[in-house]
Amino acid sequence: MAEKLISGDVYFPAEETVANSHVKDWNALNKYALENYEKFWSERASELEWFQPWEKIIEDEDKPFYKWFVGAKTNIVHNCLDRHVKTPNRNKLALIWEGENGESKTYSYFALHRETVKFANVLKSLGVKKGDRVTIYMGRSPEIVMAMLACARIGAIHSVVYGGFSVEALHERIEDSQSRVLIVQDGAYQRGKIVPLKDIADEALQRAATVEHVLVVKRTGHQINMESGRDMWYHELATLPIATQKCPPEEMDAEDPLFILYTSGTTGKPKAILHTHGGYMVGTYTTLKYVFDIKEEDRYWCAADPGWITGHSYIVYGPLLNGTTSFMYEGAPNYPYPNRWWQMIERYGINILYTAPTAIRGLMRWGNAWVTRHDLSSLRLLGSVGEPINPEAWKWYYDVVGRGKCPIMDTWWQTETGMFMITPMPSVPLKPGSGTRPFPGLLMDVLDEEGKSVKNNEEGFLVIKNPWPAMIRTIYGDPDRYVQQYWSRFPGSYLTGDSARRDDDGYIWIIGRVDDVIKVSGYRLGTAEIESALVSHPYVVEAAAIGLPHEVKGNAIHTFVILKYGVEKTEELKEELKKHVGHEVGPIAKPEHVEFVDSLPKTRSGKIMRRVLKAKALGIDPGNLSTLED
Ligand code: WTA
Repeated sequence: MAEKLISGDVYFPAEETVANSHVKDWNALNKYALENYEKFWSERASELEWFQPWEKIIEDEDKPFYKWFVGAKTNIVHNCLDRHVKTPNRNKLALIWEGENGESKTYSYFALHRETVKFANVLKSLGVKKGDRVTIYMGRSPEIVMAMLACARIGAIHSVVYGGFSVEALHERIEDSQSRVLIVQDGAYQRGKIVPLKDIADEALQRAATVEHVLVVKRTGHQINMESGRDMWYHELATLPIATQKCPPEEMDAEDPLFILYTSGTTGKPKAILHTHGGYMVGTYTTLKYVFDIKEEDRYWCAADPGWITGHSYIVYGPLLNGTTSFMYEGAPNYPYPNRWWQMIERYGINILYTAPTAIRGLMRWGNAWVTRHDLSSLRLLGSVGEPINPEAWKWYYDVVGRGKCPIMDTWWQTETGMFMITPMPSVPLKPGSGTRPFPGLLMDVLDEEGKSVKNNEEGFLVIKNPWPAMIRTIYGDPDRYVQQYWSRFPGSYLTGDSARRDDDGYIWIIGRVDDVIKVSGYRLGTAEIESALVSHPYVVEAAAIGLPHEVKGNAIHTFVILKYGVEKTEELKEELKKHVGHEVGPIAKPEHVEFVDSLPKTRSGKIMRRVLKAKALGIDPGNLSTLED
């Protein structure tokens, strides 16, 4: 029986959906998880395999450095692959992949295990050991999955850099992580063109001195430079006898690092968010199972990129932990035509589609006919992530893509949380634009400036009040910043950086970031990265970046630039500066707009007041200006 809700536009689940889902009674599960928090998570953990059991579920003596499943030993890859290979699931498809050029490949669990072992042996032959960092810079290919799993299998820490990032972003991340090995694709297909990943990496490596070996995976086969002594083709090493040796998964402590992933924060350079083998495994496994209600026969498609947390948790680890069949597509949604996605859903019989509001708005713009000419009746569930979804896009997704039959799982979470935090389940009544309530057992709140809970329907800071298994453990190499950034504003609570309000039904509505993070097409960028790219141009003295609302992208980047004395303010220079940011940070960071200014609003301590720039651009009241210097 669905519960009664008192406010807003509510979509109740069909009786059949409730009857068939893992979690039929959300309220009962939430009550159980709240009252038996540790037991709830230990029961979930017991569904997976451990080389050695835990002595303690949560260790909180050294807050906020929480530990989970203390004393336990496991390896996430053992649970992603080896566990299934021992069962009839060995012949089930783990991965179905389609290239933008129409090529397609499939891997059973057995085959993915075999290929991962091979990849792991190649890494070992390059001297990669437990605890070493390996940077991965690739497109959406089966090999990126193998590369990540291979690192984790031997206990190395992967650091995936999204293939849409460019020279300086890659350089900075390689250097900060002190990676000695880089795994790169020669190129990737995107909108019929080749993204020259290896060329970009070559340029980044001229700036970074730590890398000794570059392992190159062939995808496009176009001409690239291979530096002798440094660069090696993966496919050549993979045929050597050493690659076919046995390679049992390294026994990892539950708290041993699994990966770092760089993300943008409040100020300064991107920070390396660290996740571990044990807790992250339990968190991603459980949330995917319950929220996307994974069934034996499912074909699940998360259309994100493996280079972001969504790809880590819900393309690579979560689906494999659940033994499901994942689909991955290399290219653009409108190549060669705007029906590419729908064609593939029909062709492969996809049951679950998980994507971002920006993609939905983009697809919506091309018109319904591209969608409705395909048989999408295989779809059972839809998902959304990355930014608030506007009700108009929600309804289009629901009515046109889901034919009014597929509940939409609007999942709120972050690189730092590792797993879904505010999310419905198929049996939960939905309100377009709200991710509903915290995952069972989680305590979240909306606070005012003083740290007091705000009243219903009032805006405030969204915080998390109890630890969760897939939580960030630290910022790699900078534990002080971890404490400062997340736990100092409201001691004892994790600061999400988002503002939100809670309605009379306890449903949470995300409003947006309250820090210097800009979400452009769902991609998380920092004003600091864009500004430092601008300032690295010889003509620029100072720059400020802000996000302004954009119909499809959610936010678009607007920049204000002070030029060196005597430099002429031309339209060509604006274009050149946009291109420069694209080259340094990546095409996703290219400003929509560059404005030349003579000064920037600053506080007396010299901090740029982006809030004032934003208010001015939007023509609204800038609020309190008492700290403005001039
Ligand atoms: C935003 C992405 C509204 C939010 C998984 C958060 C969302 C940031 C949602 C994290 C959602 C993510 N509704 N906003 N369903 N999901 N966000 O680290 O501002 O790339 O803080 O992780 O995305 O972005 P990140």
